[in-house]
Amino acid sequence: MPKPRILVTRRWPQAVETRMAEVFDLDLNRGDNPLSEADIRDAMGRYDAILPTVTDRLPAKVFDLPKARTKILANYGVGFAHIDTEAARTRGITVTNTPDVLSECTADIAMTLMLMVARRAGEGERELREGRWSGWRPTHLIGTKVSGATLGIIGFGRIGQAMAQRAHFGFGMKILVQNRSAVPAEVLALYNAVQVPTVEDLLPECDFVSLHCPGGAANRHLINARRLDLMRPGAFLINTARGEVVDEHALAQALWFGTIGGAGLDVFEREPHVPDALLGADNLVLLPHLGSATRETREAMGFRVLDNLADFFGGKTPRDRVA
Ligand code: DGY
Repeated sequence: MPKPRILVTRRWPQAVETRMAEVFDLDLNRGDNPLSEADIRDAMGRYDAILPTVTDRLPAKVFDLPKARTKILANYGVGFAHIDTEAARTRGITVTNTPDVLSECTADIAMTLMLMVARRAGEGERELREGRWSGWRPTHLIGTKVSGATLGIIGFGRIGQAMAQRAHFGFGMKILVQNRSAVPAEVLALYNAVQVPTVEDLLPECDFVSLHCPGGAANRHLINARRLDLMRPGAFLINTARGEVVDEHALAQALWFGTIGGAGLDVFEREPHVPDALLGADNLVLLPHLGSATRETREAMGFRVLDNLADFFGGKTPRDRVA
């Protein structure tokens, strides 16, 4: 049996690439340059599996070729809104993702952003590095206390729950949850959390709001000007989910006019582009999509893709099948 022909669209951790090369007929992207939609469409005719990431776009037109060879899109990442799963499904192409293995590190980055923006760590570091620090004083860079505050979590899947774990047990925070489906009472009880029916119910009650829902069309601009207005003055918004969940223009206005206290963003609507209005906002902490970026997690994500491929080419349904 010939080995399946596989395209890896970006550089992956060395340990995973080495293992994959033993098992598959592999094409690596040694230059690590993002592929265009045309490149991916072309690859659909030539590879048994394509292993995309969030930087690849796979709308319906990418699937529109007379004879696709690709049978599985094994995504490296938990979010898969960049893949038109309906187009994949109608052409009988399986799609998988990599849940679980990145929940802790993504929640760690959400905590990092929450602490940094509340305690003005970004502002403080900029001041110090630029030689503007004049020494300790009682009124210098006064922030907001995190411990004991109320955290609203929108989207209570694995990452939302990992966030609740850290915030509740590490910082004694009160947890409010908004989720599209009812969260089992025993799961809420783990964090002494309360589920509220709507985003509108949650926002006015929270000192911090952290987004952990999926991206894609359904949640585009879930946080818009109207909802930002519902947040408490002085409250903070954290987004480690997907950029499109927040209307960046409306957020920039809220930050500039001080209608909220600040924000922390790890994701952006048109990555790697970040609007100037956000770059100039001092009460905003910005990170370049680092949620899952630890050696341990990035390797685990790769090996999880390998497990999915092993299942698929072994004739089994992959454990992380999403379409
Ligand atoms: C994820 O896993 O969804 C990360 O954001 C990278 O795509």
